[in-house]
Amino acid sequence: MIKEFLIGCCYYPEHWDETNMENDIIRIKDLGFNTVRMGEFSWSIFEKEEGCFDFSLLEKAVRLAEKNNLYVILGTPTAAPPRWLTERYPDVLCKNSDGIVMSHGSRQHHNHTSEVYLRFCARITEEMAKTFSRFKNVIGWQIDNELNCHRNESYAESDDIAFRKWLKDKYGNIEALNQAWGTCFWSLDFNDFSQIECPKRTTTHKNPSLVTDYYLFLSDSVINYAAIQAKIIKKYMPNAFVTHNGYFANLDYKKLTDECLDLLSFDSYPMFFEQKGIANGRQAEYRLAQTRGCSEQFLILEQQSGPGGQLSYLLPTPVPGQIRLWTYQSILHGAVGVLYFRYRTALFGAEQLWYGIYDHDGEENYRSREIRQITEEIRRVGNVFLKERKHADVAIYNDYHNDCRRKSEPFFEDDSRLIFNTLNGKNVSTDIVYNLDDLEKYKVIIIPHIAIADEMFEQKLQKFADNGGVVIISAKSGTKDKNANYLPIKNPGWFRNLTGCYVDWFTALPDHTKQFVEMDNKRYPAEIYCETLQIEGSSAVGYYTEGFCRDKIAMAKKGNVYYLGFFCKNSADVYYDIIAKHVNIATPLDKNLEEFALGNYKMYLNHGDAAVKCSGYDLLCEKSFTEIPAYGVVMIGRE
Ligand code: GAL
Repeated sequence: MIKEFLIGCCYYPEHWDETNMENDIIRIKDLGFNTVRMGEFSWSIFEKEEGCFDFSLLEKAVRLAEKNNLYVILGTPTAAPPRWLTERYPDVLCKNSDGIVMSHGSRQHHNHTSEVYLRFCARITEEMAKTFSRFKNVIGWQIDNELNCHRNESYAESDDIAFRKWLKDKYGNIEALNQAWGTCFWSLDFNDFSQIECPKRTTTHKNPSLVTDYYLFLSDSVINYAAIQAKIIKKYMPNAFVTHNGYFANLDYKKLTDECLDLLSFDSYPMFFEQKGIANGRQAEYRLAQTRGCSEQFLILEQQSGPGGQLSYLLPTPVPGQIRLWTYQSILHGAVGVLYFRYRTALFGAEQLWYGIYDHDGEENYRSREIRQITEEIRRVGNVFLKERKHADVAIYNDYHNDCRRKSEPFFEDDSRLIFNTLNGKNVSTDIVYNLDDLEKYKVIIIPHIAIADEMFEQKLQKFADNGGVVIISAKSGTKDKNANYLPIKNPGWFRNLTGCYVDWFTALPDHTKQFVEMDNKRYPAEIYCETLQIEGSSAVGYYTEGFCRDKIAMAKKGNVYYLGFFCKNSADVYYDIIAKHVNIATPLDKNLEEFALGNYKMYLNHGDAAVKCSGYDLLCEKSFTEIPAYGVVMIGRE
């Protein structure tokens, strides 16, 4: 689909004096870019009054881009409905779970289910697609912008109506729903679909099946919203790609990608994680792996290019080298194009503090110089990154249905991100997979607390294990049905035969309860919840060390299949040490150095703030090196 590496930035012609437009586009080209993204928030300009369309400003920008040999990716403007629309049709606004309306004045204040809103979105998309289908340099479309970014739940009247319809389609009649949800518990039986509402605030815990279905529904309603736009764009521009920029909660990105998109995209802001106290830009790599799991080729539609801020906060400024480092981070984790957010910092509006490549003054700075270096390198070696990357040996399984189930039973925290970060941080390249259909290419599959499973799921794992694959299954897996109800079987449910063990006792581990597991004379923390195991066809490979559980079995192994009867909260080293028994892992030269094999090349990314001793000839800078500087990136030929 993408045949040439795309490198560019986001540009908002409506934010600048029209007389500067040509100069802006020339300067964008001069940065070494080949692509520009525009249009995604300009609805009030495109349709100033209901039904009066005017795309002339954007047409002028697209024409100038064409003149300067720039590809264009256009965004549909539906993340920012204009005032005339919300004033005349207030039902399009979304409500929070307390029924409070999100008023006009920011963005993403609409719901995804209002028939009126869907109609207006379809119309603006159609007018836009019709208009811009004339331009050959428009190569792709972004639907909406960051669906579910500012709010990922909605409780408007239209959501209740759509939820009822969704349930009726799913269950057919109310008796079937009552049965599936176990509504006889706490007298929650319904007589009719019309009595059901999206799960608003209640005195205490809600029915978990209802909650699970609500989150499945939320995702489907967003996918339906996106699908309407995708279909229209494809009608007018069948050769342009359709994408969307993730990654946020309550949306099944795999389904979104499969049903509506040619490829998924991701917006990478590594500094956000520093704001959350995790001083390590590598945290973005989990999201990159999730995106890659949905979409073999993907783009970064927004790559952080300056200090970010939104009036109430300001993130630290990337130090020299960091923008380049993050760019290669995105690329080496699979991106086939990177667009920086944004060309120049806005002088007004809610994101005056969100800095782009250029500051408010628009003059050259250290960031624009760094970007020029990147684009010059990409010009020389960019096509290497389009070639197939070496796939990972290890995969972590995840699926949206189990995510929804976790919402209904949040006590059992998901530790898959921790497992990913531990492995990835130690140079074990790791994928996220959303189904078990393509496991042959992996050596290890991790099934982290996947409660909803079935016989077919178990059989696929068995086949993988029979063919020599390593399977690691962890506590509370395999015991729930699709409605988030427990099955009348012992843990680990569907996986009892596969793992050769069962759970005979368990306990919660509140923060003050210390528990450890010992394997090969090494101790690992067990957290949140732990199970003691009985062996039936497997052997014990790990034991608890404390209190009542002391000397009881924590980990079992049957052939290549491991069962870990506990959760991790602070350290997932146990997963690394199990994998290291089966897969050759090269010890990184330094803990901050990320290493990639790429066809005939090898690349090193130094995420640390100190230089790492290492020598060779760097193909990016075209000179020999004896150390990789702080935040440095080098590319060498493979022996
Ligand atoms: C993204 C969003 C952009 C801009 C940027 C900086 O989440 O897509 O429109 O808001 O963040 O805040």
